[in-house]
Amino acid sequence: MTTADALRAAMVEQLTADGVLTDPAWRAAASAVPRETFLPSFFREVPGSNPTGYEPVHEQDPGWLEAVYTNQTLVTQLDGRTRPDADGPGAVTGSPSSSSTLPSLVLRMWQQLEVDDGQRVLEIGTGTGYSTALGAHRLGSRSVTSIEYDPDVATRAAAAIGKTGYSPTLVVGDGLAGHAAGEPYDRLIATCSVRYVPQPWLFQVRPGGKILATLSGWSFGFGLALLTVTEPGCATGRFLPGYTSFMIARPHDRPPRQSITLMPGDERPTRIDPAAISDWTGGWVAQLAAPSAERLGAGGQQILIDFATGSQARTMPSPDGGWTVIQRGPLRLWDQVESSIEAWQREGSPHQEHFGITIDGDGQRVWLGSKDGPTWRLPV
Ligand SMILES: C[S@@+](CC[C@H](N)C(=O)[O-])C[C@H]1O[C@@H](n2cnc3c(N)ncnc32)[C@H](O)[C@@H]1O
Repeated sequence: MTTADALRAAMVEQLTADGVLTDPAWRAAASAVPRETFLPSFFREVPGSNPTGYEPVHEQDPGWLEAVYTNQTLVTQLDGRTRPDADGPGAVTGSPSSSSTLPSLVLRMWQQLEVDDGQRVLEIGTGTGYSTALGAHRLGSRSVTSIEYDPDVATRAAAAIGKTGYSPTLVVGDGLAGHAAGEPYDRLIATCSVRYVPQPWLFQVRPGGKILATLSGWSFGFGLALLTVTEPGCATGRFLPGYTSFMIARPHDRPPRQSITLMPGDERPTRIDPAAISDWTGGWVAQLAAPSAERLGAGGQQILIDFATGSQARTMPSPDGGWTVIQRGPLRLWDQVESSIEAWQREGSPHQEHFGITIDGDGQRVWLGSKDGPTWRLPV
């Protein structure tokens, strides 16, 4: 047994002991697919750096193979261009734009997709190709199609997948458009997040088929949803337990940010503690309430800037021990956030798994509890 085989076996054993790998067929896939082939190099965060610095790690470096078999996301590209194998200075900064997602999440999602033998799957976000290879092992290469937006990332993934002997259909392009040539699909799994469910997915997945995707936005809110397509263009589903986040699909990313000048505006006391929107589900509710805004700040000092209208809201502690909000612009961002947070708090501040989603001719709506509960429209 090689060192890589031993490390892979240990990882599989650990994921099984942790209750992540429950399906023997996916355990077999995890035991077979060599993650090291997909990660000849990656970036490691420089501890304590601010802004976060990344240093390249290559296969000849000590600790490379051990890191490949730890249960962590390994970044492989920054800002859509910087690679860890490029010549140049050591540590760099940037925003992660491609990675190999942590194995526990990849394998948990493959299992949550409830996919079975003979079913055809469309994956959005090939990345390194590791998750694609797992799918190809479990379902057979002919059943798997994967789309990657970034041509350089796609080329490297194709080479790695080729080395491992799998041959899924690999497409370079915008996964938000799906891949009509391969439809109908029984399942769609997205390993990048989206602000709303793209229409083509709702037509290319057959009625009865399932879509597993993370809904996100520009304010650090994420929710993993499993939807069933009910008829072409329509779907319904629930958000799942846990805490899943993914980098946003490139065409859904926020517009470039101008320099921010905080302006005077209308001032009033807030009814809620602004720290409520630093909570995982609270932050997500705030994002649903102000879907074209970006959130900055933290705790009691939150800042919301709306990209569609330039509206602003910011909170600060007031001398009486409460908090004050200053709002400016056509959208009263804090009014929207505050009433949504209050609605969520009235229901006992439940975790995301108490939310659902309905998509029909009337648009895409996220609801709390039931379809008649508090509802938010996604920015389609
Ligand atoms: C977290 S990585 C994928 C991880 C991958 N499944 C793995 O196991 O290595 C997300 C990937 O989605 C890609 N991506 C972003 N927007 C996309 C889009 N619109 N269509 C297809 N891929 C996209 C990114 O370039 C990135 O490679």
